Amino acid sequence: MHVWLFGYGSLIWRPDIEFIERRPARLHGWVRRFWQGSHDHRGVPDNPGRVVTLVAETGHCDGLAYLVDKGITEATFDALDYREKNGYERFEAEIQFRNHATAMGLVYIAPLDNHAFLGPAPLDEMVQQIRSCQGPSGRNDDYLFELAAALRSLDAEDDHVFELEVAVKAAPAGKD
Ligand code: SIN
Repeated sequence: MHVWLFGYGSLIWRPDIEFIERRPARLHGWVRRFWQGSHDHRGVPDNPGRVVTLVAETGHCDGLAYLVDKGITEATFDALDYREKNGYERFEAEIQFRNHATAMGLVYIAPLDNHAFLGPAPLDEMVQQIRSCQGPSGRNDDYLFELAAALRSLDAEDDHVFELEVAVKAAPAGKD
């Protein structure tokens, strides 16, 4: 069987996987939050960045679903497990497409009890962290800006992401 993968963070704009097709899609009952620490992509162990995870809450999260060919699922998910190794686990979820059809698929979520979970923080604190951190995959603020741009290109709403984007862009320079 081919496998659907739902992406809601970097997997939207930099999937780096082979896929048969991709479609805008939604998960119900989950919201995207910049609550996960990044020690290996957008920060370093001494200075972790902030990246997104999903939190179970009333609402929904829009993203992209990728259909992975059954012949390459093992190699694909091995590579994704490595990429998402800092606290994310694979979960099964019901993915809804824009035509309202649904399919079961996989999604990487960093659960509340993982070692790198940061949780919520005052907006100013998150802004400072995102502005000042960087890691092997690049600057933390670029992760936020890429995500916000990708969501706009999907016509997806996300007040949490867009509020952070505005606040990080408005933050005065020189406070890093
Ligand atoms: C995802 O994009 O679906 C997982 C989180 C991330 O890699 O940013």
